Amino acid sequence: MTDTNDIFNAEFSRQYDASSERLKDISNNLYALLSLLLRDLRAEAKVLCVGVGTGTEIVRLGKQHPEWRFTGVDPSPDMLAVCAEKLEREGLRDRCRLIEGHVKDVPEQDKFDAALCLLVAHFIQHPQRDGIYRQIGDRLKPAGQLITAEIAGDMADPDFDGQLRNWVALQQAYTQRQRDISEVKAELNQRLLLLPPAQTEALLREAGFASATSFFQSLLIHGWQAIRS
Ligand SMILES: C[S@@+](CC[C@H](N)C(=O)[O-])C[C@H]1O[C@@H](n2cnc3c(N)ncnc32)[C@H](O)[C@@H]1O
Repeated sequence: MTDTNDIFNAEFSRQYDASSERLKDISNNLYALLSLLLRDLRAEAKVLCVGVGTGTEIVRLGKQHPEWRFTGVDPSPDMLAVCAEKLEREGLRDRCRLIEGHVKDVPEQDKFDAALCLLVAHFIQHPQRDGIYRQIGDRLKPAGQLITAEIAGDMADPDFDGQLRNWVALQQAYTQRQRDISEVKAELNQRLLLLPPAQTEALLREAGFASATSFFQSLLIHGWQAIRS
């Protein structure tokens, strides 16, 4: 598995929330939809947050659902350190367990009502995402749901450059830094693996999810709600 801890290092982790501001018009909408998608969860639901990072999704959901309990897993000790501080500040720490590692490090007997995997999968540079969807499915209760959101697209499609131009324009608007399209494309190729949305949907089905409903797209970020068979 490709290690991303060089990206999510101590310095970047400390400024992650501030740098995410450039995506806030997109991410606010995405995070706001989570509660809607998870509306039928029981009052004392257990939620697994894969690639929990600095814990933004836990803070959002934890405040809205005072009895939910969360397990956050992430390979970056630096992101988890920021996450733990934030959960403490927000009064949520006692409802959360944090695990340094990958999904396979979450005990398989722990069955969750729902799992979130937000802005993570594109970092896994493996054509089958290294089995992450199946590993998540194995930790869900029957009919448990996975919400995944990831940067997606078919980079070989001639239309992709048009999508990329809009993506770059968004970054430029927030950073005031001119970016060259081919430079951004090379960076995406080097650091991430974008899959065409249809391929992600096929992977989710192969991983044992009965349905993979697309609920979100904003520029290159796509989101699916998948229900375990
Ligand atoms: C862009 S951050 C997203 C954090 C958070 N989910 C959010 O929406 O703000 C991506 C996180 O995924 C973690 N990550 C990278 N590869 C991973 C993997 N294979 N399994 C789980 N987490 C991973 C990184 O350490 C990082 O904290």
